Amino acid sequence: MQIFIDSADAKELATLAKTGLVDGVTTNPSLVAKSGANFFDTLRSICDSVPGPVSAEVTAQDYDGMIAEGHKLRTVAKNIVVKVPLTPDGLRACKTLEEEGHPVNVTLCFSAVQALLAAKCGATFISPFLGRLDDNGADGMALIREIRAIYDNYDYQTQILSASIRSANHVRDAAIAGSDCATIPPAVFKSLYKHILTDTGLEAFLKDWKATGQSIL
Ligand code: E4P
Repeated sequence: MQIFIDSADAKELATLAKTGLVDGVTTNPSLVAKSGANFFDTLRSICDSVPGPVSAEVTAQDYDGMIAEGHKLRTVAKNIVVKVPLTPDGLRACKTLEEEGHPVNVTLCFSAVQALLAAKCGATFISPFLGRLDDNGADGMALIREIRAIYDNYDYQTQILSASIRSANHVRDAAIAGSDCATIPPAVFKSLYKHILTDTGLEAFLKDWKATGQSIL
């Protein structure tokens, strides 16, 4: 499964990219606002440190506006993916942009039939929001399983990009469900390395090694 980082903090993303585990990045208007930085400077900087897909969201709500913004966002770097909302205009813009050769991530997906429409419009990525469904008493992971089944039934090539991830368990369950990618907040990404038995096991190995009085170098 591809690991994307859900953030618009260019400095933190440059650090995380050094792990060699970051396949892409997703941003959204709220994350850009949180960063406090200029949108285009931020995108340029992220695309410099992460060579994989970097999603940048349009803010226009009408078809013509989305197309114009999508074209402008695509001038920033070759790896920019235009992110559009799952609305009638957003899906129409998705179809046009994809036909022109621009990759599109359809965001704010909360149902399997929405994901079906995005695939029919040729989206490169569909972003189902797991955490927000869970927050509202629904089963976010069930949605990933439903989309996987539908896409496999019809051999749609749209990649499932599990989003609104809240925990390491979400990452595990998305991988089990066959999600192509998961976009993960930095804190959750860092938690993926952690296990108490790794920490205590390493501590014991190092203590025993020290007692031997030997050194490898
Ligand atoms: C995805 O592309 C979105 O940026 C993101 O995953 C939203 O997550 P949230 O529900 O934590 O805001």
